[in-house]
Amino acid sequence: MIVSSKKILLEAQSGKYALGAFNTVNLETTRAILEAAAELRSPVIIQMTEKTFQYGGGHAMYQLVKNLADFYFPDLPLAIHLDHGRNTDVVREALAIGFKSVMMDASTLSYEENVAMTQEIVTEAHTKGAVVQGELGNVPYKGEVTDVEHMDWDKYMTNPAQAEGYVRATGVDTLAVAIGNAHGSFPERPTPDFDRLVAIRERIHLPLVLHGASDWQEMNVKKAIELGITCFNVETATKTAFLNTLRQTLNESNEVDIRKILMPAREAFKAAVKTKMKLFGSEGKAVV
Ligand code: 13P
Ligand code: ZN
Repeated sequence: MIVSSKKILLEAQSGKYALGAFNTVNLETTRAILEAAAELRSPVIIQMTEKTFQYGGGHAMYQLVKNLADFYFPDLPLAIHLDHGRNTDVVREALAIGFKSVMMDASTLSYEENVAMTQEIVTEAHTKGAVVQGELGNVPYKGEVTDVEHMDWDKYMTNPAQAEGYVRATGVDTLAVAIGNAHGSFPERPTPDFDRLVAIRERIHLPLVLHGASDWQEMNVKKAIELGITCFNVETATKTAFLNTLRQTLNESNEVDIRKILMPAREAFKAAVKTKMKLFGSEGKAVV
């Protein structure tokens, strides 16, 4: 059953656990996420990016997730979310398709531009009954940083006082924060800046989202939840599990049935989703 991401995030926030927001790109990854959630009775956010719109078609991908959920998992609470909408066109496209949860990621722009663009989208989204995630500070990607070895992390971190003003000015429903987290295989800040997270949490009472933490040690994930993170975006951990298994299957057999080649990879993706759900504490929390 498709529900509002805000509803399940607020439930997670008050229950002191976190949700996984898992990126999907196709049928295999969508089924893996849904099956994992259903087997663990975990609420879940399934999300996709602009690149997935380009790959599969935004409408088609949205309907794929919705149809699978409606037909096969009618009592599973799940939200469908646009991840990293980097421009207003793609966010508007998602809203027109029917997404009720979108990210306006203007985090690489100046503070003023980020506020203006996000505020504009929040107004439009709220009239359509959709909720918006903003990002302040910036969670870096490998390709976007020239000198990864000598990162000036302070430039990327969320400023707690500024975040308070950002939330007030934009009206966002959830906020992605930067405390030393980084996307993909980027070498992270050696330790997350937990004092900063505490300072953000003291000022902001909305659900806080952590991108780029799928390679974090369990200890740090648990601490982040304890200190106020309510949602973890996960792509690298699940993608790596899928690809490693797919490579192994292809190397070890001459199978010609595409389904038999993809199934073990799909199962590995599903197992990685389950591992994260258990770590986040969302297992057994599905109530419809
Ligand atoms: P990871 O690369 O750590 O999985 O982060 C994914 C993400 O933030 C997607 O928005
Ligand atoms: Zn992200």
